[in-house]
Amino acid sequence: MSDYFEPVSILSLSRSLGLQDVDLETLRRWFFGLAQWAINFECDPERQNIADAVSAEITQAVTPIMERLIAEPDDSALSHMLHDGMPEGSVRAVDFLLPTFKVLLLGGMQEPGHGAGSIMAGLLQNPSQFSEVKADLTTLLPRADDEGLRWVTPIGTQTRETTQEVEIAGVTIPAGQAVAAVLASASHCESRFTNPGRFDIHRSEGAHAAFGFGHHFCAGRWFARQQITVALRSLIENQPEMALRDRGPVQFTGWEFRAPVALDVSFDR
Ligand code: HEM
Repeated sequence: MSDYFEPVSILSLSRSLGLQDVDLETLRRWFFGLAQWAINFECDPERQNIADAVSAEITQAVTPIMERLIAEPDDSALSHMLHDGMPEGSVRAVDFLLPTFKVLLLGGMQEPGHGAGSIMAGLLQNPSQFSEVKADLTTLLPRADDEGLRWVTPIGTQTRETTQEVEIAGVTIPAGQAVAAVLASASHCESRFTNPGRFDIHRSEGAHAAFGFGHHFCAGRWFARQQITVALRSLIENQPEMALRDRGPVQFTGWEFRAPVALDVSFDR
């Protein structure tokens, strides 16, 4: 995970955004720091402090990059966010864009790598499906991608606050209540998926919930699918004999952010 999928995920997004000069370890630290806020369900002030410090560091590092792009636009996503659709001679304010930019860093840098690792785990643990995918990467790899994202949903919840009293499945939730919709559970709902714990690239039971629902449906879903497909395709084409070493089942970790701890593989038989 840390040797291949995390770097591919972090660097492909950061380079597309326009953060050419920020090194991998800094980006990794930023993601893990911001994540302390996202997983802070217990409202631990120490976690919040870590996230606040990283958030301030990002503001300090990214503001000069944005200021340069205001004067010298280029093809980066950050440059487009500043300039596109604005009246001649004006740009979006840096302070206006920074919060969105931090959401991109938090949600976008790590999850494609996590997702790709889970998909790879599903394939490696099911060698006959892996053989089918290797024989038809164009058709079956995208199917494996979606099945892996359903099987181990990288982001566990969508959290919200109710604006009014609401009844769901006979339960009344008062106004102003924090709620978490558990995407991982929705992707395993028995009313839709037969034997939901099984990794099966031939499922035809409809969409999963990994990218969320509603107004905040993942803005990076097409980019993420491309990152995952390119990363997996390149790995599989270069290492077709890859297999799990016989050291027990793949271990997964995390609840709000879930992924294999590591993939212990050999590259030739
Ligand atoms: C497999 C990879 C990914 C997964 C599983 C994932 C999942 C999600 C989920 C569940 C949400 C909804 C959160 C909520 O409603 O509270 C979300 C939102 C979002 N995602 Fe992703 N994401 C992935 C990759 C990416 C990437 C690569 C980017 C950026 C290029 C990205 C950018 C965003 C943004 C900006 C939002 C917020 C959209 C809004 O608030 O309108 N995501 N993502």
